[in-house]
Amino acid sequence: MTAGFMTWAEVDLGAIAENTRGMKRWVGDRVEIIAVVKADAYGHGAVPVARTVLKAGATRLAVHRLAEGVALRQAGIEAPILVMAPLQPEEAPEAVRWGLTPTLATPEAAQALHAVAQATGRRTAVHVEVDTGMGRAGLLPEDAVDFAHALQGMDGLTLEGFYTHFATADEGDPSFVMRQLRRFEEVIAALEASGIRIPLRHVANSAAALRFRAAHFEAVRPGIALYGMRPSLEWEPPFPLRPAMTIRSRVIRVWTLAPGESVGYGRTFIADRERRMALVPIGYGDGYPRSLSNQGAVLIRGRRAPVRGRVSMDQIVVEVTEIPDARVGDEVVILGRQGEGEIRAEELAAWAGTIHYEITTRISPRVPRIYRGGP
Ligand SMILES: Cc1ncc(COP(=O)(O)O)c(C=O)c1O
Repeated sequence: MTAGFMTWAEVDLGAIAENTRGMKRWVGDRVEIIAVVKADAYGHGAVPVARTVLKAGATRLAVHRLAEGVALRQAGIEAPILVMAPLQPEEAPEAVRWGLTPTLATPEAAQALHAVAQATGRRTAVHVEVDTGMGRAGLLPEDAVDFAHALQGMDGLTLEGFYTHFATADEGDPSFVMRQLRRFEEVIAALEASGIRIPLRHVANSAAALRFRAAHFEAVRPGIALYGMRPSLEWEPPFPLRPAMTIRSRVIRVWTLAPGESVGYGRTFIADRERRMALVPIGYGDGYPRSLSNQGAVLIRGRRAPVRGRVSMDQIVVEVTEIPDARVGDEVVILGRQGEGEIRAEELAAWAGTIHYEITTRISPRVPRIYRGGP
């Protein structure tokens, strides 16, 4: 047990390094890895993860918000950092000041950035996202050539990258990915025909990087696989992925629930006979989904103890009738391995009716992150 903590998340940086090296071997020397560390590296801790992936073969980082990029710079990280949210004109001074690589989507943002870059003498690299079918952010393909030419006319800016994002790369059927890829290639061909060559083209999230070599271009942009989670259960990744996060807690009370007595708010679990219960200090205030009420399970002594009753803000009650030696002080594993047992984020997500991305990302700052291993 880690002294002083009731509930904590252990992040195995060795696993993250290994997953990054696996990805690097898979994509080969000529393809860069832009490691996606947005949302505090999917809950794993952006700064330690960024340092780890950069030592293990990634050459660039990507975040969503400008503030996430600033935080990495303030921690002393010097690698190129792509900010994927479309730059807002008022963000231009910060983007230049911190040497971040913004994504541009509007002439107003481009003008604002160019003006700051010129005034400060700091030429700024920019990327453009093109919406080939995600239906979210990015320029429409038909606007790409004019926009790229406008950028080339701004000498404060260097048009470094063009990218797109897939809507269905994790799904079994690859047909929509291929359609998006074709649209992207048409945009690139139109740019080239008009005299613009893009040095860094990148389209592949983890799923596309692992499945489609034609999507590698000059760089891939993986997130989930670096954290050791499979993008999908519909297909096998080409190399093993090692989950990096384990969430641990401990039993703080054990008692017998008499027949007819209930557990928690709403009395959604009522004992039909004598049952042994254990109290574990993790709840929705820590990011343990409330939808796991009467659905989840934890590991105690390597065995599964089902969640009984509703998940509260700070605690859950699990049944240990089948684990008669369970005691106060026992370690509880909420996510990860214990003895022969394992609960993966993918499984927790299925119980909670969500995706595994959300499971690790929503673990709240109240849960301290403890780092083990390293690159
Ligand atoms: C634009 C963009 N690129 C790459 C990624 C990384 O995706 P994944 O975690 O599935 O590898 C994300 C994450 O959602 C994203 O939004």
